[in-house]
Amino acid sequence: MKNEELIKKIQELKKEKNAVILAHYYQVAEIQDIADFIGDSLQLSQKAAETDADIIVFAGVHFMAETAKILSPSKKVLLPDLDAGCSLAASAPEKEFSEFVKQHPDHKVITYINCTAAVKTWSDVIVTSSNAVKIVESFPKDQKLIFAPDKNLGAYINGLTGRDMLLWDGACEVHETIRTESILKLKLEHPDAKLIAHPECKKPVLILADFVGSTAAMLGFTAKDSCTKFIVATETGIIHQMQKLSPDKQFIVVPADETCACNDCPYMKLNTLEKLYLCMLNEKPEITLSDEVIEKAKKPILRMLELSKNVAK
Ligand code: 13P
Ligand code: SF4
Repeated sequence: MKNEELIKKIQELKKEKNAVILAHYYQVAEIQDIADFIGDSLQLSQKAAETDADIIVFAGVHFMAETAKILSPSKKVLLPDLDAGCSLAASAPEKEFSEFVKQHPDHKVITYINCTAAVKTWSDVIVTSSNAVKIVESFPKDQKLIFAPDKNLGAYINGLTGRDMLLWDGACEVHETIRTESILKLKLEHPDAKLIAHPECKKPVLILADFVGSTAAMLGFTAKDSCTKFIVATETGIIHQMQKLSPDKQFIVVPADETCACNDCPYMKLNTLEKLYLCMLNEKPEITLSDEVIEKAKKPILRMLELSKNVAK
């Protein structure tokens, strides 16, 4: 089927089934353009909590769809491709994680939203890259903290807040491959450009950056800043919205390495328009979770939403 036909059918199914399509900024442009709402991890969880649709179609990865299910358990949550995982979530299997938590009974557990629902059940509070600093700061200075699973984001927050959180050894396979050599080369070629980076990048990249922030924060920065050229150290999908918001500005994606011209998340990019259409038509693959997991995982997510009331929506 051609894209125009798929788009028409998806729109019909949306009405017929009272479905809402939530898409992360890392989705392919066609999916972003047909979505009812596009956002970063925090914005999407806020939307999932408040929607009155019967079906949530999550154009993102597995942990995001699980979060939507936890927040709206009575709704059917669909993910176009069940293999759309995340290297961060995979780095923290529940068994190892729960043992680690039990070994540190005096620590509170702060977990990045990029983790499985099972891991969320072992957490005191969930964070995203938009609200992590604010939430870490909400704990007393002398409170011992575990931060999992992203060691790069954790180290970045330790640096900003002066905390000494115990870090889980996980990383985003997309952001971790972004190298300073590639950035320095681009900076020499474009001395008038500002470098913006996602905090999942390694420390040497973040040190070079003019602005570090979540996907939505980077988008907002490029729209508001007077600079007209940006070197972008994150996943490629966000460029679509940056270019839409600022058509006269130039965006240069940092190549992950010399042999690769883009930083595409292999999991995010598993979703296609065709899979989106088929999952809406067949109402599967569906995300299912036990009542027990939903109940336990909901607490730290709700705590995050409560603590994020003034963070970008
Ligand atoms: P944010 O959407 O919070 O910026 O996170 C980026 C990411 O890697 C999502 O998987
Ligand atoms: Fe996970 Fe990284 Fe892909 Fe985000 S970009 S889903 S953190 S692997």
